[in-house]
This record gives sequence, C-alpha cells and structure tokens, in this order.
Amino acid sequence: VGIAADGRRVRHVNAVAAPRVLDAPAAAGGYPIHLGSGILDGLGSVWAERARGGAVLLVHDAALSELAGRAAASLTGAGMRVVMAPVSSGEASKSLTEVERLCRLAASSGMRRADSLVGLGGGMIGDLAGFVAASYQRGIDLVHVPTTLLAMVDSSIGGKTGVNLVEGKNYVGAIWQPRLVYMDVDVLGSLPQRELASGFAEVIKYAFLEGGELLDLVESWPELPGPTEPLIDLVARCVDHKLRVVAVDERESGLRASLNLGHTAGHGIEAATDYQRYAHGEAISLGLLVALALSADHAGLDPENRERAARVIRRHGLPEELHPDVDLDRVMDALGRDKKSDGASLNMVLISAPGEVILGADPPRDEVRRAIEELRP
Ligand SMILES: NC(=O)c1ccc[n+]([C@@H]2O[C@H](COP(=O)([O-])OP(=O)(O)OC[C@H]3O[C@@H](n4cnc5c(N)ncnc54)[C@H](O)[C@@H]3O)[C@@H](O)[C@H]2O)c1
Ligand SMILES: [Zn+2]
Repeated sequence: VGIAADGRRVRHVNAVAAPRVLDAPAAAGGYPIHLGSGILDGLGSVWAERARGGAVLLVHDAALSELAGRAAASLTGAGMRVVMAPVSSGEASKSLTEVERLCRLAASSGMRRADSLVGLGGGMIGDLAGFVAASYQRGIDLVHVPTTLLAMVDSSIGGKTGVNLVEGKNYVGAIWQPRLVYMDVDVLGSLPQRELASGFAEVIKYAFLEGGELLDLVESWPELPGPTEPLIDLVARCVDHKLRVVAVDERESGLRASLNLGHTAGHGIEAATDYQRYAHGEAISLGLLVALALSADHAGLDPENRERAARVIRRHGLPEELHPDVDLDRVMDALGRDKKSDGASLNMVLISAPGEVILGADPPRDEVRRAIEELRP
C-alpha cells in the first residue's frame, strides 16, 4: 500500500494543500482515505463525486455540532440533501435502541438504497453509524469522518461495526467497509488530552508490531497531538499498517489477530474494572507492558523493549502501574472469557523483536498472573 500523490484537488473556498490519499487495497475494502489538515470543508465535493444517491444521513456526536455543521454545509454546498442525526456522546449510545431510532429516522426522511450515511465522531459513532449503514435496507454507502485519534488510526479502518448488548461489548455487529474515509487532523485540536493519550496507546501498539521507523517516530514523539505534518505522517503510517493486515485477513482468523497486541490483559483489566476506571487506551498501555514482559520471558524479546514502551507510556500520561484496588482474580477470570480466547488457549499476541509477531501464544496462567501483578506499584 502506498500513498498515492495523485495531485487531486479539493474544490472549496479556503485554499489548503491537497490532502494525501491512501488507497485501501481491494481486499481491505477498496476505498480512498483522505488525510490532511484543514480539509473538513472539502468533504462535500469529494463525497459528491463518489456518492450514488443525493441524500445523506449525517450521524454525529452531539458534542460536535460545530464540526457537524461544517460537514453539513460542505455536503449541502455540493448539492446533497443532508438529514442531521445527532447522537448523545458516550458508549451508552452504542445500542440497538439507537440503531432502531436512526434506521427509523432514515426511513421517515425518505432515505433510499442509493443514499448514504456519514458518521462523524469517535469510535463510538463509527461503530454505531457503520452498523446502521450495514443494516438499513440491507446496506447503504458509508463514509467515516473520524474525529478522535483512536478512530483515525484504528476504528475507522478495517470494517468492523457494531453495538453493545448488556451481555457484552460489541456483541452485535457486521463487517461493513466504508466507501470513503475522510480525516482532518485539525479536529484533534479540541480533543481532551486524556482522549489523545488513549488513542496514542494504539499508536504505541503499531510501533511495536512494525518496529523500524515507526517505533523511532513514536519514541521521540513530543506532547500530543504534536506538529501537523509529522502527525499526518504518523496517522498515515498507522492506517497503512492496519490496511496491510486487514487486506490479508478481514475476519480475524489469522494475521488480523496481531492487532490484539496488548489487548488480552488490557481487556481483562477493562472488564474487571467494569469499563469505569480506565479509558480503553489506558488499559491497553497496561496490557502492552504485560505482553512485552511475557514476550521477554517466552519469545526471546530483549527486555529493554518493555522499558522503551514504559518510557513512552509515562511521557504521555498513560498508566504504567495497576491501581491497588483492581482485583486480580477478576482480571484472570475475564481473560478466560474474552471473545478472542477460545476458552482453552489465551491466544495472546507476543513479539520476539519489534516487528516480529507471534500469534496464538498461550503462556501459563500463573505467569500471566505474575506479569499483571508486577504492574502493581
Ligand atoms: N471498529 C473497530 O475496529 C474499533 C476499534 C477500536 C475501538 N472501537 C470502538 O471505538 C469506541 C471508542 O472510540 P473513541 O475512543 O473514539 O471514543 P468516543 O467516540 O466515545 O469519543 C471519546 C470522547 O471524545 C469526544 N470527542 C470526539 N471527537 C472529539 C473532538 N474532535 N473534539 C472534542 N471531543 C471529541 C466524544 O464526544 C467522547 O466524549 C468504542 O466503542 C470501541 O469499541 C472500534
Ligand atoms: Zn484497542
């Protein structure tokens, strides 16, 4: 996957540099990813060129009404009819109740099979909007406009969509690829520091999965979000990594599982704390440290790598210590129940060196427990 510098211009009022366009390979969905600074107002002209129908349901985080207003103005300016669909912020909105409400809003607004849905927001909106797009009239075109770092580097790529049940997170869903992903890094300017850091935990994950230049870049990253051009480059590298993995394996039977580095213990810690104490990326930071410690013990990884990760984690205010209140028995319980484990094996991802991934590892439970215990202050 390369970055196509195809010189394409976006028509809109404020002259900005032409965005970078990455192309998701056909096996990963085959759609363009526009990435740039100050490009949000160009969304309409880009989407109008690809859209088949003239109406758009603009599903957006209600906290982002200003960004949504700009997106709507841009789409309207390109001749499209926009139906606004604000959704309350927060994970609770990723529900079947919201899916029904949005599908009915689409129906009552006369949205047809050729029309499209634009999801503007973080991963919560992307997953919800994506699932509505996959379901409404058996599927309509989807555009992701991610507004968090996590959504840019992770959730808007790969096609996973879905909502939560009381019984489990992401328990109902579909694989539904977007037809366009449109990222303006300027919107990250309003994202709270804790959310930026949480998204950066996934960036640290990619850095150890890929090694090389990406790891160097991440190790030397200044305060978040960081300078614009390097930030665009950083997001592009993470997107490119995920696209290459998804192209090989859309449904997580093989290589896609590598993206779960840090997520086995991380999910356990999230579940054991009822998803309350830690933001996702905070739990993943702890999970990464566990995975790197186990990699040193079982996969021949130079133990210095755990320290490298800890330094980056510390610098961005992510946790490197497990809070004393976290119940280790509950963490271990949750590990066994994880969707990714098959009950018998933990199916962990380890690395033998940065960029050298080992899938389906099953270290002894007492050693996993000890590696988590070592996170205690
Ligand atoms: N589909 C996938 O492959 C995938 C991968 C990882 C995570 N996810 C899902 O993503 C969700 C988490 O995503 P998230 O971390 O982006 O959370 P989120 O969408 O809940 O956004 C986090 C917070 O930031 C606010 N926000 C968003 N953009 C903003 C901006 N530009 N300025 C100011 N505030 C802004 C939101 O209102 C919210 O309060 C979870 O539901 C998770 O399951 C999906
Ligand atoms: Zn994650």
